[in-house]
Amino acid sequence: MNNVVAIDGPAGSGKSTVARGVAAALGLSVLDTGAMYRSVTLAVLNAGVDPTDAAGCALVAKDSIIEAVDGSVFLDGTDVGETIREPGVTAAVSIVSAHPAVREILVAQQRSWAQRNQGGVAEGRDIGTVVFPQARVKVFITASDEERARRRVSDEKSAGRDAEIADVQNAMASRDAQDSGREVSPTAIAVDAIVLDTTDRTAEEVVADIVRRFNDVTEQR
Ligand code: DC
Repeated sequence: MNNVVAIDGPAGSGKSTVARGVAAALGLSVLDTGAMYRSVTLAVLNAGVDPTDAAGCALVAKDSIIEAVDGSVFLDGTDVGETIREPGVTAAVSIVSAHPAVREILVAQQRSWAQRNQGGVAEGRDIGTVVFPQARVKVFITASDEERARRRVSDEKSAGRDAEIADVQNAMASRDAQDSGREVSPTAIAVDAIVLDTTDRTAEEVVADIVRRFNDVTEQR
């Protein structure tokens, strides 16, 4: 699938905000694949399955109906948009998402989403490297550790949860290390990706940059 914008990056880099902006500007649908891994993790915890049990997690993933499109997240028909951001899910998601059998199931769903929609904007960790290697534009979004932690604390506060910058920064560093160090589909910069540092740039500037690149590539075809 070629009519795809692939947006990868670590936690708190701003990729969800940017992905939504790019999708709105280009009139495309947006898929939050992190929300899909979080939804499976919630289902695993709800089922009382041990997150380290690869086969158990894969069974849960196979039996779950997940939709994480255009800002909404549903698990088996229930809106889980808020529940999947709870600390229990955040703490376990790197373990559940490291199981190859879980990834196989979700990657197949991500590819059929793109087929159904004739493309779209997908955000995650392995979108440009594994899920859509033929994407028209690939972007890897970064921001400084402090800025990423600051943004996450502000999200937590908006959701009514208390959070300290130092704690959030430590938890993020540990999750990033797990996501980048796993054997299958680690967080990685595709060789043909553009790296955009959002530390000192507004989301609007980054969105405009990606949209321009997408239109340039489309014109050259
Ligand atoms: O983007 P996020 O923080 O909501 O993602 C939650 C977790 O899901 C993250 O720790 C790593 C995992 N993830 C993944 O392994 N592959 C993706 N394509 C997206 C997310």
